[in-house]
Amino acid sequence: MSRKMFRRVGAAAAALATVGFLTSCAKNSPQDTWKPKGDAARTIDNLQRPVFLVAGIVGVLVFIAVAYAVIRYRDRGQAIPKQTHGKPALEIVLTIIPFVILATIGGFTANTIVELADTKGCEMTVNVTGQQWWWEYDYPATEANKRYGIDKPIVTSGELVIPVGVCVKLKQTSRDVIHSYWIPALNGKKDAVPGRIHENKLEADEPGYFSGQCTEFCGLSHANMRQWAIALNAEDWAKWVENQKQDAVAYAEDDTSPEAEGYRAFRQNCSRCHQINGMKNADGTPTIAVPENNIVAAAAPNLTHLMSRSRFAGATFPLLRDKCNERLIKASSEELGAVYLAGVDAECLNRTQLEQWLRNAPGMKPMHVKPDERGLLRGMPNLGLSEDQIDSIVTYLQTLK
Ligand code: CUA
Repeated sequence: MSRKMFRRVGAAAAALATVGFLTSCAKNSPQDTWKPKGDAARTIDNLQRPVFLVAGIVGVLVFIAVAYAVIRYRDRGQAIPKQTHGKPALEIVLTIIPFVILATIGGFTANTIVELADTKGCEMTVNVTGQQWWWEYDYPATEANKRYGIDKPIVTSGELVIPVGVCVKLKQTSRDVIHSYWIPALNGKKDAVPGRIHENKLEADEPGYFSGQCTEFCGLSHANMRQWAIALNAEDWAKWVENQKQDAVAYAEDDTSPEAEGYRAFRQNCSRCHQINGMKNADGTPTIAVPENNIVAAAAPNLTHLMSRSRFAGATFPLLRDKCNERLIKASSEELGAVYLAGVDAECLNRTQLEQWLRNAPGMKPMHVKPDERGLLRGMPNLGLSEDQIDSIVTYLQTLK
């Protein structure tokens, strides 16, 4: 390598290192793995800090030794020194030191893994199912869950709501390919694998709004498969549960209000895949979605309480306008419950964005919209709705508090 070339490569490497270093100073870093907000994440943090310290010290020592050797013994035209081979004492010492370091770290790591895998003390359970490209949370009405007010199953998506200070057991699986669940502030990553159930656990110290993302490449919209965990204090949790258990309004067939028009437009165009609990057909029978006839993974988000969430489409896009979204993200732990439970009102709804989604969903989020050989899709297609239908459906969606 010529000297000039060497300098250029050196300058580029230094610039890259500087950028890398500066990005670590970002203030707005909701997925910072160094700021645990719960028990499991703290267990990981307690391991990673000493490991990084030891690795850092070893790294610095090695750099110093290499730099010293390179500078001190560079070729200045001096005679080649006497050649020797082997130095048993030095070799033994340099084998024992790394062995001791790695064995120690290995011991602590094994302990941490066992501790994180232990979900025995976690009574409340949520089934977490990944699919292309969103997460479903279903809270079964088990005896243990009844103690937390869940005496009727709750199904939601995108945002996992949990009570503060309660260890929540997640039973993770997938309906199509492998995904990975990760809320850095609350725990490490855990894969969601089709045909298997992996147990995971989350516990939050304080009310909060925690961001995460799918961390196993799962196809076109892997980057648009987000997840959020919202921790609420006992009082707010009870309110959330009570609301989620309610069915949506069933509008009468002769009701001509804009909401009722939208209800019928939704039923005609969207209810093939999306369930709304409480919706009725024209003959009074319950409207049951049949996503298995349309979607490879055989499920689509239940939208009964869409406006109680802050995001849609795999929790990728805010339902809220910038100002309201900011208020939620920046809410202190005392305010968070009230801000989150307020949901999405007419003033805060980012209507343009939601309409855009109904107009052409795959234009906002890449999805496989060509049916496979069985006629099934991966994700929501462009339904070819008219502007009137879009407007009407969004008016109806706003009632789903
Ligand atoms: Cu799901 Cu990546």
